[in-house]
Amino acid sequence: MVICSQPRMTAARADVPAKPGADIEARIDALLSQMTLEEKLGQLTQQSGGKQQDTNPEVAGGASEDLLGAIRAGRLGSLLGAHGAEYTNALQRAAVEESRLGIPLILGNDVIHGYRTVFPIPLGEAASWDCDLVERTARMAAVEARAAGTHWTFAPMVDITRDPRWGRIAEGSGEDPFLGSALAAARVRGFQGVSLTAPDAVLACAKHYVAYGGAEAGRDYNTVDCSEQRLRELYLPPFHAAVRAGCGSLMSAFNDLNGVPTSANRFTLERILRQEWGFDGFVVSDWNSIGELVQHGYAADGKDAAEKALRAGVDMDMSSFTYRTHLGESVKQGAVSESTVDRSVRRVLRAKFALGLFVNPYADPKVEARVTLCDAHRQLARESAARSMVLLKNDGGLLPLKKDVARLAVVGPLADNQRDPLGTWAGIGRWEDVVTVLAGIQAAVAEGTRVQHVPGCEIDAEIPGGIDAAVEAARQADVAILVIGESESMSGEARCRTTLDLPAAQEQLLQAVHATGKPVVVVLLNGRPLSIRWAAEHVPAILEAWHPGVECGHAVADVLFGDVNPGGKLPVTFPRAVGQVPISYNQKNTGRPPSDDRFTSKYIDLPTTPLFPFGHGLSYTTFEFRNLTVTPGEIGPAGAVAVSVEVVNTGDRSGDEVVQLYIRDLVASMTRPVRELKGFRRISLKPGESQRVTFTLGPEHLGFHDPRMEYVVEPGTFHVWVGPSSVGGLEGAFEVKAR
Ligand code: NOJ
Repeated sequence: MVICSQPRMTAARADVPAKPGADIEARIDALLSQMTLEEKLGQLTQQSGGKQQDTNPEVAGGASEDLLGAIRAGRLGSLLGAHGAEYTNALQRAAVEESRLGIPLILGNDVIHGYRTVFPIPLGEAASWDCDLVERTARMAAVEARAAGTHWTFAPMVDITRDPRWGRIAEGSGEDPFLGSALAAARVRGFQGVSLTAPDAVLACAKHYVAYGGAEAGRDYNTVDCSEQRLRELYLPPFHAAVRAGCGSLMSAFNDLNGVPTSANRFTLERILRQEWGFDGFVVSDWNSIGELVQHGYAADGKDAAEKALRAGVDMDMSSFTYRTHLGESVKQGAVSESTVDRSVRRVLRAKFALGLFVNPYADPKVEARVTLCDAHRQLARESAARSMVLLKNDGGLLPLKKDVARLAVVGPLADNQRDPLGTWAGIGRWEDVVTVLAGIQAAVAEGTRVQHVPGCEIDAEIPGGIDAAVEAARQADVAILVIGESESMSGEARCRTTLDLPAAQEQLLQAVHATGKPVVVVLLNGRPLSIRWAAEHVPAILEAWHPGVECGHAVADVLFGDVNPGGKLPVTFPRAVGQVPISYNQKNTGRPPSDDRFTSKYIDLPTTPLFPFGHGLSYTTFEFRNLTVTPGEIGPAGAVAVSVEVVNTGDRSGDEVVQLYIRDLVASMTRPVRELKGFRRISLKPGESQRVTFTLGPEHLGFHDPRMEYVVEPGTFHVWVGPSSVGGLEGAFEVKAR
């Protein structure tokens, strides 16, 4: 890992108390006592700070005069969209050296899965089930971003969703609150590093608070109406995990939650976040989500919106300007007290102090040049992409391929494609940095191997003669590799789909190439689960590679040719058809669980089971789970159970298995899911090697929110399964006895 030591540059203005070690709260008090109300509202205002096309590049590296003027006047506390050490230093100089109080800006950006070095989309990384890896990629993203002047990332995105129509599924960790919580905490640790004052730390921001992933019909920005039980057990846990990991900020969301938009929701922002969890960081709104309270029909106008959001606990306004425009008057009228404003300003200033911005507000261009897309970062991008891949199917051991295969056809619109592997929210990633799948394969195969590439079609359109050319190439090859899926613009914000199928042109291409009778390997590049029913039935080998980032081609080749044995597992269910969604493994049983009986909970045209279940993923080797023990067999509500299993690599290659532990609380005062993930560990085993893996289940795993919404462990029988996916596994049981 690259550790950059950033030299201290110009310190903040002398009249700002910035003595290291001095008590921060006292320094904030001193500042607050000097600030005008306008300056206070400036600290609560964030706007876009990208370079303007119509400005003189000589002036502060391209910043507009309006922007610089607002910074100098103390009317802005934060910007988003400003990149690069030189440019951000110019903006920062206006704040630190040219504003009355010299308060530094906090510069935020969407560093979601890498900065210039783009790692796999978060959903892909979640498939690694590897918290250490996820922490390391977040750390490296932070190193690059901070060197380029970003102090704060709008990540991790921790929204749980069971609806792959929702385009933003790509940005999160999938459907499960336990996995999502572990990864949320890992990402926070990675972004923030050992200390926020370190010169390579960035402040994390868990988003979108809260329940945004429950958007009705998978349509972005849509309403969420959910029970408090579901809120507390599905959507809140990853936020709580992020807060426990020390996450310095949260972003309120766009959605309405049970009738109150989340950007003005006192129940979630004040009662749960502040009172129950003791969160002492600050909350930023999502882009214009305060202004949108008017469209929601929750506020009469911008002023009403600003008052409601501030009172509910949204500290900073991202780009609706309602705080700066209206709250001055609100304070004068007594509609909002100045102490409420001060409370939010204090939280924002605290973060600026915590980040060391009063001491070292600037980025160092030399560090930026050294760390940006450096070899170590590319290497981690390759490792993380390969560890994120999921082998969905591998009939007859078609994979791994031999590197000296005589002739390969590499077909599909994503095979020689540099843009789409970056995926959604790819920071300042550039398509020219991307290694294509074709280039990766060419670099991996033996000298004598002939690789013929034919796109066959475009992502969502036919190419005249494209299929014929692809079929011809496949006929002449020993193996056809089809690289298909989604473009980067098919997932992400405002990119929802009503179908999860492959685009028709690609489905036709796939079926035509398969009809040649040649062995076909499908490599999927995509941002969401796809209902690839035909492929799953007919194609012998399918590798889910997600949108893997800059090292796409190298990582895909590493897995295809067996340099890396795939060990990823699905963090989200793959449905057979869009009609099955929302779908997840941890559903409730219903009074009529599906069976052959007619009047049970099922469809008449498809099974209720998924195409590929949560937790599924194959390997080039095989594993066996043996000798499950659950001890003791009885515990009290505060007790703990050890669940232990032996895992053996029964194949002839080294490989990784993700050992997964699920429970079911059979009878409770609120119905419980048929299975809940409560433990996982990714282990590596050599051929013939075995390892005993032990999990401890305590009250934090066994409890739930009862009808009073109190967290309780109730007496009764629990079933437990340990296995390689959410289906099957070795089964045991234990009792919780009332004590
Ligand atoms: C809107 C998105 O919802 C949010 O995730 C993002 O951080 C902001 N825009 C800023 O780009």
